[in-house]
Amino acid sequence: QDHLISAANLSRESIEAVLDRAAAIDADPAAYRQRHAGAVLALCFFEPSTRTKMSFDTAMKRLGGTTVDMGTVESSSVKKGETLADTVRVVEGYADAIVLRHPSEGAAKMASEFVDVPLVNAGDGAGQHPSQTLLDLYTIRERAGLDDLSVGIMGDLKYGRTVHSLAHALTNFDVRQHFISPESLRLPRNVRFDLHESGAQVREHTDLDAVLPELDVLYVTRIQRERFPDENEYHAIAGEYRIDEETLDAARDDLSVMHPLPRVDEIAPEVDDTEYARYFEQAHNGVPVRMALLDELLTQAEAER
Ligand code: CP
Repeated sequence: QDHLISAANLSRESIEAVLDRAAAIDADPAAYRQRHAGAVLALCFFEPSTRTKMSFDTAMKRLGGTTVDMGTVESSSVKKGETLADTVRVVEGYADAIVLRHPSEGAAKMASEFVDVPLVNAGDGAGQHPSQTLLDLYTIRERAGLDDLSVGIMGDLKYGRTVHSLAHALTNFDVRQHFISPESLRLPRNVRFDLHESGAQVREHTDLDAVLPELDVLYVTRIQRERFPDENEYHAIAGEYRIDEETLDAARDDLSVMHPLPRVDEIAPEVDDTEYARYFEQAHNGVPVRMALLDELLTQAEAER
């Protein structure tokens, strides 16, 4: 059974297949309206979500299917002590695919070993968030293609799962990756190791000014307050690496400013109305990209039955 657990396992070919399908859906959504009529997608979110959960929900319904929602941890039997393995084993009997978000790194991989329906990792702690990466790549590709690019990734590179997935996926393309963060929030050692092994062109910076003028894309991320073991450490860093219109004076005119959202104060609202801002478009791209992903996973699962 195919699952989507980590962007580290995605090839260029598999990424382009999903992005091409998303483009076809964007061009003719009506052709996909009954594609998976009767299919059910289970939404199991052990952590809060707006975009991922709602866009998967919309995507499944636009493919003609329906969704079942576990609800919150508080309102589910997780509150009574049910394990993740038991939860997904039960849920696979109710659904044709599962989308899982969980606070523990590795949870999606572990859960996938207990089920025979496709499982999508919608975020596992500070680990991975590969479906976010697919919509990020779709958004980048629409304006600039995916080769011969300089991409800056800034903010919380240590805990940011969207960063880890994007960094892995970009190794499939001719992309110079620039990581901009305070020393304490550098990319984790395992991700740095993977990038090094892949031969990716990688540089690390503590200062955005040094690299901003050469960037095609600046991917800004939130400092993940909920993952800091010590609240004081968070407060020492919060507010650094903020983008406003003045910061962007040094940027190229065609820079794309992206953000997986939610933002706190990393991007000043005044940037929203500039040509740089791509983050709301990026969030909206979640629907066609997740339709494409679900279409691929469900079609493959049906063929294997
Ligand atoms: N980008 C993202 O994962 O947003 P949510 O946490 O709202 O799903």
